[in-house]
Amino acid sequence: MASVDPFGRTDKLDDAMLEALVVRFEARGRHPVFSRMLNEYLDAMHIAGTATVLDLGCGTGLAARAIAHRTGFSGRVSGVDISPYLVAAAKRLAGEEGVADRLDFRTGDVRRLDFPDGGFDALVAHTLLSHVEDPLAVLMEAARVVRPGGMVGIFDGDYASLTFDHADPLKGKAYDEALIGALVTNPRVMRQLPRLLRAAGLELVTSSSYVLAEIGTAHFWSSAIEAYRRLLPKAGVMSEDEANAWAAALRSDSDARVFFGSSNYYAYVARRP
Ligand SMILES: C[S@@+](CC[C@H](N)C(=O)[O-])C[C@H]1O[C@@H](n2cnc3c(N)ncnc32)[C@H](O)[C@@H]1O
Repeated sequence: MASVDPFGRTDKLDDAMLEALVVRFEARGRHPVFSRMLNEYLDAMHIAGTATVLDLGCGTGLAARAIAHRTGFSGRVSGVDISPYLVAAAKRLAGEEGVADRLDFRTGDVRRLDFPDGGFDALVAHTLLSHVEDPLAVLMEAARVVRPGGMVGIFDGDYASLTFDHADPLKGKAYDEALIGALVTNPRVMRQLPRLLRAAGLELVTSSSYVLAEIGTAHFWSSAIEAYRRLLPKAGVMSEDEANAWAAALRSDSDARVFFGSSNYYAYVARRP
């Protein structure tokens, strides 16, 4: 069955929905834990100051801009995304942050990259792999376009662990399952990554693991809930009324300081031998 995951078909979403994604991607990018997770794996990649880097599924260019802003970085970052709307947002945000001269964003499909073999020193895929139907094919493309000795950073949620509490635990479980089934093509992909990296011909260098839990009040998760509220009816798993009620209950839990929301995240750094 074809995936309903809207993050894997952003080229088919309307502009209002895409603007909501821009807001979510940027809001989560500003969150200190999300930003720390990104910077920790970028540190572990030891990207040279003059490197050429590729950001796969760049969205609004969050990871690309973070690389461009790194102290001593004067190389170039290219970003590829399937959504022309998100590519336009990435270009605009790079201009606003004064790093457009080091960045180049283009529309493209990470399953068939329009780049020659071995042209990049490093590559990142920041919350992409959970949304593509064939993560191994994408990793093989990543391995192809990175030079021998080049570094690959893969970061994503372990969305099989994504959970929000609900006053009725059985309803909470059903909502979690609906959410994960509708919004994530590969909720367990980060558990498979050691074997997928091996199959793609990449050597695991290091990995990091995180729990992004908010207990009491929602901050990181509040912008996710707002985006999910809009995406769930589009994915066909809830009516608009159901999605609004789901989000309202979580907002009210947060206002009452009884909110619980959590997902594990993992970062892997690998090398092309
Ligand atoms: C969850 S978003 C992450 C965006 C960005 N990397 C970030 O962390 O803010 C996943 C991104 O992958 C893009 N994407 C999904 N499938 C793709 C494909 N086959 N080719 C290119 N981009 C794709 C989507 O358009 C979306 O921007």
